[in-house]
Amino acid sequence: MIGKMKTRDRLIQILEASPNQWISGEYLAETFSLSRAAVWKAANSLRSEGYLIDAVRSKGYRLVTDADIMSDLGIIQYLSPDCRNLDIRVLSEVGSTNTLLKEKADAGSPEGTVLIADMQTDGKGRAGRRFYSPADTGIYMSILLRPVETEPSRGLRFTTMAAAAACDAIHDVSGKEPGIKWVNDIYLDCKKVCGILTEGSLSMESGLLDHVVLGIGINAYCPEGGFPPALKDIAGAVYDEKQMDGRNRLAAGFLNRFFAYYCQKDSDSFTKTYRRHSIVIGKEVTVISGASKRRALALSIDNDFRLVVQYEDGRTEHLSTGEVSIRLENDKSGVSSGD
Ligand code: BTN
Repeated sequence: MIGKMKTRDRLIQILEASPNQWISGEYLAETFSLSRAAVWKAANSLRSEGYLIDAVRSKGYRLVTDADIMSDLGIIQYLSPDCRNLDIRVLSEVGSTNTLLKEKADAGSPEGTVLIADMQTDGKGRAGRRFYSPADTGIYMSILLRPVETEPSRGLRFTTMAAAAACDAIHDVSGKEPGIKWVNDIYLDCKKVCGILTEGSLSMESGLLDHVVLGIGINAYCPEGGFPPALKDIAGAVYDEKQMDGRNRLAAGFLNRFFAYYCQKDSDSFTKTYRRHSIVIGKEVTVISGASKRRALALSIDNDFRLVVQYEDGRTEHLSTGEVSIRLENDKSGVSSGD
């Protein structure tokens, strides 16, 4: 039976049996009792059908099923029709996508301008921290929003909307169940896989928000050799192994989910998602404010996304991010969360 198969069919059968593995041209030629030129011809015929086949003289051939190169078009192909008018630029390296986008915002770039980097040399985290942003493993994205007549106090809704959208998108691509640690860190298996930094600019005339730069960093994969020592116990990744178009799909999935929430008039739907993913509600927490540390029970998240806690003396308080941070009891990572 096998003798009657076309070389093209036999070649794809062998390559598909060992995806992403190199198989030497010599071995294939011997197996098919053909010349190496005939193998080359069959590989080209598969390529013309759309198969992604790498050929390297010293290594042979391999069927690529885990190529994950972020690109404008690679992301756009997965966008929903509502997101097709976004202006997306993927950069190979940048200091910080937030810093660059803030410059563009000041120069008048419109809402929907999106900068994504494969690597950041000066990635910014909250509270003046740095955000580790190595090449080829993460999505470092900033989105420019120009919300209409929005009080600065409403700015937190964009951060929480992004957290809800990130959970949706991570679940869509991986099937995993991420959790949100108030206010906007995303966790998988007790490790942080995503952080969000929202920076707003006020109009001096109106006192309203002029624009918002929403920055989100997602660890799609663990870096080769693992995270640096300071992060290895606290940082995790969305995917366990390389995925074909993994980052393009995740970046587009996030944009689709985020703009679906952003375009809705009410905040019901993302608020529900946000609360559903909270890993804080019902847990013992330590509330940290300056030098003071108090134990409390996290009861709920109110409609302004303040965390409602009850202290040991029975008193309750609505905590605003920016003023306090919290640490989950029994959280080995020791990472506190807050803006
Ligand atoms: C945090 O967890 O402290 C927030 C991290 C936010 C990181 C993102 S990556 C894209 C954007 N550009 C930056 O410099 N920071 C944000």
